[in-house]
Amino acid sequence: MSSRTQAVCEVGELKPGERVIREVGGREIAVFNVDGEYRAVANYCVHAGGPVCEGTLSGMVTADPEEWEWGWDRKGEILACPWHGWEFDLVDGTHLADPSYRLLTYETRVEDGEVLVEL
Ligand code: FES
Repeated sequence: MSSRTQAVCEVGELKPGERVIREVGGREIAVFNVDGEYRAVANYCVHAGGPVCEGTLSGMVTADPEEWEWGWDRKGEILACPWHGWEFDLVDGTHLADPSYRLLTYETRVEDGEVLVEL
């Protein structure tokens, strides 16, 4: 493990739909288990510095304008900041309405039963 790789938690302590927020290498980082995929995000909202990783996990509405049908997709992949409700895609950190805003995300991997992040 390089000095830029840090362990955040044990695989077994993070079930699908759960998150941990930890101080890692001097930064506050959350790791989310999204259906077995680990997503790591800095706990700092790009809007006004709120603790974005403490927000609600949800999904998003989809629409097919040709058929006038509505749906619900990506359950557990959309994170809403608790301060003003901005919504972000956990996969790449982008703001749903304006992708020019993006949360800081980190690569993750599992090694020896631990979830690691690349800082
Ligand atoms: S600080 Fe996150 S939406 Fe405003």
